[in-house]
Amino acid sequence: MVVKVSVIGLGYLGATHATAMAELGHEVIGIEIDSKKLEQLSGGSIPFHEPGLEQAFSRNLSSGHIKLSSDFASLASADLHFICVGTPQRQGSDAADTSYVVSAAKALASHLRPDSVVAGKSTVPVGTAAELKDVMSEIAGFEVNLAWNPEFLREGTALEDSLRPDRIVVGAWNEHSVGVLKTAYAPILNHGTPFLVLDVPTAELVKVAANAFLATKISFINAMAEVAEVSGADAVALANAIGYDERIGNKFLRTGIGFGGGCLPKDIRGFMARAEELGVGSAVDFLKDVDAINLRRRDRVVELAKQELGSLSAKRVTMLGISFKPDSDDLRDSPALEISQRLAKAGATVTVHDPVSLEALAEKDPSLGREAELIEAVREAELVILGTEWKQYREADPELLGSLVAKKTVIDGRNVLDVARWQQAGWKVIALGRSIENA
Ligand code: UDX
Repeated sequence: MVVKVSVIGLGYLGATHATAMAELGHEVIGIEIDSKKLEQLSGGSIPFHEPGLEQAFSRNLSSGHIKLSSDFASLASADLHFICVGTPQRQGSDAADTSYVVSAAKALASHLRPDSVVAGKSTVPVGTAAELKDVMSEIAGFEVNLAWNPEFLREGTALEDSLRPDRIVVGAWNEHSVGVLKTAYAPILNHGTPFLVLDVPTAELVKVAANAFLATKISFINAMAEVAEVSGADAVALANAIGYDERIGNKFLRTGIGFGGGCLPKDIRGFMARAEELGVGSAVDFLKDVDAINLRRRDRVVELAKQELGSLSAKRVTMLGISFKPDSDDLRDSPALEISQRLAKAGATVTVHDPVSLEALAEKDPSLGREAELIEAVREAELVILGTEWKQYREADPELLGSLVAKKTVIDGRNVLDVARWQQAGWKVIALGRSIENA
């Protein structure tokens, strides 16, 4: 059954969700108040790099399954409204900034009917939905059907994750909201995807708890890397060995320069801030260590660079990959970006190569050198650092690259290089968490 849906906020989450809803056969009206973003989207282009999304989005835009507007009045005829605006880290604090969610909810409220359903998808501190429900109900003049429906998509596989999720989580106060969401997700549920109906606070918590767990897993193996580095052990082999235990599992145990992006770092900080407000800060105090371990990996690379180069002044360093993960041009809290900036601040001449993120880098930090050709990027480098595990770097020819650099030293920040092959080509390979013998 076709559902008329609105999607409010067409950033990462919203643009993907609007496309997914249209792909499922629904009629979508997307609301974006940023005029620059709206103009770009109206031309069929997505303002960030996400494999496969632009094609699917523009196809649905051309066929009329997605319509766009900046005016909330145009969503009045929709039956189901998804709030997809951002909740970034608040300036000068660890807490999440929920002001965009509150504004969107208020703007939406006066266009609702008593049978309309509003589903929040943004990641919010537990307790936010209850407050929003009161605010919206007061404006609407009736009790608004609000549900919370967190999204678990990963950048790089966003559309695929939205169309084939592990589970759909819905927190709701009434059956009507659950029923409408079930209808909207029916094409996915028909494939047997679990549909979990929870109370609202639990649904809000599922998202931050999942991200806190994932961040903890990464920091756990990076803590082991710190131990491995001083004891001659190998954290990659260790992760592999413990990962065979099904209770532990081998996913999210890749050791390296750690996690970044628009979710994991700000979500664990926001979680700590919210727990503190609720008087249970000590329950998630361990996330401070998770954050600290993660940030120490960046210090470690700067330290290794200094060990290799002595003074960094005027030393030529090439950073391979600047986005927080491959298949994305997202630079938010990117470990590779922070390391590059710190090396540059210490006097190094940093040249960044990245298959898709140089434009985003030019906007974010034009002071760093940028080079679109890999061969040119490494020419005369005295140190090469792999910061993001793009396929292109894993497959790069160490013989060729070795013939171009001034010094064949590479720090593998993601543990993806074939060490033996690089060593055979004469490289000194330094890998985080591994005590590698170089000739
Ligand atoms: C994350 C969650 O996975 C997703 O469910 C949620 O909806 C949003 O936040 P995303 O930020 O896209 O998704 O990236 P993810 O794949 O989780 O990676 C996050 C960071 O962790 C990246 O910087 C990645 O390089 C790093 N990482 C991941 C590791 O360092 N080691 C690992 O083993 C896995």
